[in-house]
Amino acid sequence: MVSQTLELSALELVERAKKVVSLQNKWRGSETINLIASENVMSEEATRLYVSDFMHRYAEGEVGDRYYEGVKFADEIEDLCERALKKLFGAEYVNVKPISGAQANLAVFYAFTKPGDVVMSFDLPSGGHISYREFGAAGCRGLSVVDIPYKPDSFEVDYEAFANKLKEIKDKLKLITLGGSLFLFPHPVKEISKIVGEELPDQSVIIHYDAAHVLGLIAGGQFQQPFKEGAKVVSSSTHKTFPGPQGGLVMGVSLTDKQISSLRKAVFPGLVSNHHLHRLPALLYVTAEMMTFGQSYAKQIVSNAKALAKALDENGFRVLAKEKGYTQSHQVAVNVSELGGGAPVSQKLAQANIITNKNLLPGENPRASRTPSGIRLGVQEVTRYGMKEKEMERIAELFRKLLIEKADVEKVANEVKVLRQEFQQIQYTF
Ligand SMILES: Cc1ncc(COP(=O)(O)O)c(C=O)c1O
Repeated sequence: MVSQTLELSALELVERAKKVVSLQNKWRGSETINLIASENVMSEEATRLYVSDFMHRYAEGEVGDRYYEGVKFADEIEDLCERALKKLFGAEYVNVKPISGAQANLAVFYAFTKPGDVVMSFDLPSGGHISYREFGAAGCRGLSVVDIPYKPDSFEVDYEAFANKLKEIKDKLKLITLGGSLFLFPHPVKEISKIVGEELPDQSVIIHYDAAHVLGLIAGGQFQQPFKEGAKVVSSSTHKTFPGPQGGLVMGVSLTDKQISSLRKAVFPGLVSNHHLHRLPALLYVTAEMMTFGQSYAKQIVSNAKALAKALDENGFRVLAKEKGYTQSHQVAVNVSELGGGAPVSQKLAQANIITNKNLLPGENPRASRTPSGIRLGVQEVTRYGMKEKEMERIAELFRKLLIEKADVEKVANEVKVLRQEFQQIQYTF
């Protein structure tokens, strides 16, 4: 596939670009069951709003105080997005300029730490995301990262070890990041905030919550509410359980003017010049969808995730956290080490039109990220297409046929297409 030379003419390149888009739309857009936990699809109307003149423009600066002319509608849309999101999430400050969740994390680290400080977060097997760890924001900012002690068997923080660690590092600790990438159960924002508040009553440590995966569940009131539990800053993507355009945002409560100013400057001019304005009309539209349909959408997501986990378990798979009810989010984690591991299993599933990703599981060696034991599944996209508990059972049966009974891959791939054929229309929209 990858070649150093290019034998195609300019016209052939044009044809190829068109063909690739058409093939992608057909395959990933209508024939596959997508269980990647970090993706979603926008409604047709939001998608229409995504392509506009805004995609050619700049609006450096803040609403009402720009460095460019021609921005009256950019001002209007950015202002409406921020006000709508404040209302939806109970935030006092919202910044929609970050163009991705990773960039939003970087902005938070840039605003609230300086090189040499210490930050805490979950390591990757415990669900932490690379974007705020040593190779991500923390590394870029020259910070030392200390792991939040985690008990992989019970999916819980080891509070005693956490309190002891806190005493050791409190002089240099500036930020604690909760939230993550493998995210089956709410994180203990309240408990961590309480322990930190007792040890450091001067509020010198920011409790930061990365809501990238669960923003849509929070919007629909079906997951923890991080601001009410003690988080001061929430960063996120806008395209995972929140079914918006690919992008990012940062929100805050109880921040001082100085902290807001640091955050604003970290985003612009720190990290963005042009902030991809064409996202914003779609983001506003999806925010309105979530205000209207978010509760029923998020409820169905969680119910589907539980149903898929149970059905996979009943079909012979090692689903994590059975004793805790498997999941309270959109995600399901499965240990497939006996079937060859996360890499070959996810590849085989993709051949059968079921799209997933290999994933480290709690307690695994962080260095095993290319050969992990697990796969991570997310049901937010199939839910958006209208699938319910019954379809989760059908999906689990397809998993069994393919991976345990070793049925013919082509045959299963066709069955997946047939199932998907019934679910082409995006739901939970106006
Ligand atoms: C917890 C978490 N934070 C941040 C990100 C990065 O988000 P983005 O892809 O929008 O940069 C991800 C990506 O999946 C994630 O899982």
